[in-house]
Amino acid sequence: MARSALLNVMVQAALKAGKSLARDFGEVQNLQVSVKGPGDYVSQADRKAEKIIRDELLKARPTYGFLGEESEEIKGTDGAHRWIVDPLDGTTNFLHGIPQFAVSIALERNGEVVAGVVFNPATDELYTAERGSGAFMNDRRLRVAARKVLSDCVIGCGMPHLGRGNHGKFLVELRHVMGEVSGVRRLGAAALDLAYVAAGRFDGFWENNLSAWDIAAGMILIREAGGFASEWDGGANSLESGEIVAGNEHIHKALMEVIKRPIPTK
Ligand code: IPD
Ligand code: CA
Ligand code: CA
Ligand code: CA
Repeated sequence: MARSALLNVMVQAALKAGKSLARDFGEVQNLQVSVKGPGDYVSQADRKAEKIIRDELLKARPTYGFLGEESEEIKGTDGAHRWIVDPLDGTTNFLHGIPQFAVSIALERNGEVVAGVVFNPATDELYTAERGSGAFMNDRRLRVAARKVLSDCVIGCGMPHLGRGNHGKFLVELRHVMGEVSGVRRLGAAALDLAYVAAGRFDGFWENNLSAWDIAAGMILIREAGGFASEWDGGANSLESGEIVAGNEHIHKALMEVIKRPIPTK
């Protein structure tokens, strides 16, 4: 597997931030944590990891823009390129000592994601993809799962946390999906959830209310692994809508229909 120079820059930044996260994960009880809103936290570990990534990426490409979850956006003098970064996806898991979290880094060119890296330092799983070159976990080429019918499938999802007003709507979606599939999972880190679809661990995934940094890298992993990732109406993902539904050709289509079923009247 040959990686481009740009993908190497992204991988190095993810590994360096991952090391910092792994150290902080070992001492999680000593971290300073602030509350952004109900059920929404940020810690020193998130901020440190974002600084590491931002410094590495901007050192390598000083003219590119930078959009990260925990710092002010940099517009960049090169209007075509932008880094999209979640330094710690799965902060709630991290703060509870649950080893399901990741660094997520994507590169956008002229509004399209062209490369993505997702790294889970707790398992040393490094997911990478570049447009047209396939998706990999470490050195292994990835392919989405082949299952064609929902009743054979394990589907991942995201649940709205405290402070989000869409709990009732989610419960309707969940009820519909539960009635069709073999199992539903909620692991708590959207970037990794999408990497799991690329790796064929999840047959499909749906969530809304996400941000560009949660999904940019995961989306290209899925597409390069032969899968589909879109907004809920099937539209190409703008990154701004916060919606995503994913799977292979069959499951993506079937899941889109199920999650949009109307609220039952009885
Ligand atoms: C969160 C995780 C979670 C998803 C939330 C995201 P964060 O990201 O990806 O799985 O359900 O909506 O905000 O805040 O841990 O980076
Ligand atoms: Ca967050
Ligand atoms: Ca996130
Ligand atoms: Ca985050």
